[in-house]
Amino acid sequence: MEETSPAKLICAIVLTPIFVLSLIFLLLWLSLHPHRPKFHIHEFSVPGLNQTNGFENATITFNVTVRNTNRNFRINYESLNGSVYYKDDEVGSVTLLSSFDQGEKNTTILQHELSGSMSLSTLNNKRWMEFVNDRTKETVIFYLRFTSIIHYEKSVWDRKHHQMHANCDAGVDSNGFLLPNFKDKRCIVHFGRLF
Ligand SMILES: *[C@@H]1O[C@H](CO)[C@@H](O)[C@H](O)[C@H]1NC(C)=O
Ligand SMILES: *[C@@H]1O[C@H](CO)[C@@H](O)[C@H](O)[C@H]1NC(C)=O
Ligand SMILES: *[C@@H]1O[C@H](CO)[C@@H](O)[C@H](O)[C@H]1NC(C)=O
Ligand SMILES: *[C@@H]1O[C@H](CO)[C@@H](O)[C@H](O)[C@H]1NC(C)=O
Ligand SMILES: *[C@@H]1O[C@H](CO)[C@@H](O)[C@H](O)[C@H]1NC(C)=O
Repeated sequence: MEETSPAKLICAIVLTPIFVLSLIFLLLWLSLHPHRPKFHIHEFSVPGLNQTNGFENATITFNVTVRNTNRNFRINYESLNGSVYYKDDEVGSVTLLSSFDQGEKNTTILQHELSGSMSLSTLNNKRWMEFVNDRTKETVIFYLRFTSIIHYEKSVWDRKHHQMHANCDAGVDSNGFLLPNFKDKRCIVHFGRLF
């Protein structure tokens, strides 16, 4: 066996603590870094989609949950808005929460009935044809988007205020009821920095 050269020995003496410290730092970061809130869609319906005379009186109802999975951080939501889209067109929007504090391991139900403010009837002709076409194919995909500005309370690792978007796909059948394969699905959460 070769004898360890002094250079190799010095390398080991210097690198080993660096490696161990990095590992400790990584584990600390993983355990103390706050997690993003988790959104799940449970219910969504647009009854009356099968009307031939448009959407004048259509009502959209949804039930989405948002959970703070963190054990150590409360989450503050500056305000939380929900919007419903068909393709790129917003068909309705509502402010669901204004300045709200969510406790650790706590789940909040975001549930609302959008009516009156519906603007499906203002979809342009091309969109309208796409919509009618989707409906005859028995699947119409709507998107629910939740936007908020959040921050983690008492976190030393992440003190920023984050612009947050959660996007949920809501596929409905031709009668406007949520299809089983969209039920209880997790929504995608993005952060974009504001400050
Ligand atoms: C919508 O509701 C109003 C009042 O309830 C009613 O007069 C109107 O006919 C309805 N429109 C459609 C398209 O069902
Ligand atoms: C909304 O969904 C949650 C989770 O499935 C459920 O616990 C709650 O009862 C629902 N709310 C209503 C009004 O259905
Ligand atoms: C949710 O938060 C409230 C107030 O912050 C607290 O009283 C309640 O126990 C929490 N619920 C759960 C399930 O942790
Ligand atoms: C939510 O909507 C209200 C009213 O339109 C607006 O003032 C507020 O800035 C919105 N919040 C977010 C986070 O987009
Ligand atoms: C629309 O769907 C509802 C609920 O399934 C049904 O009761 C109604 O008859 C349908 N209307 C038309 C015009 O197909």
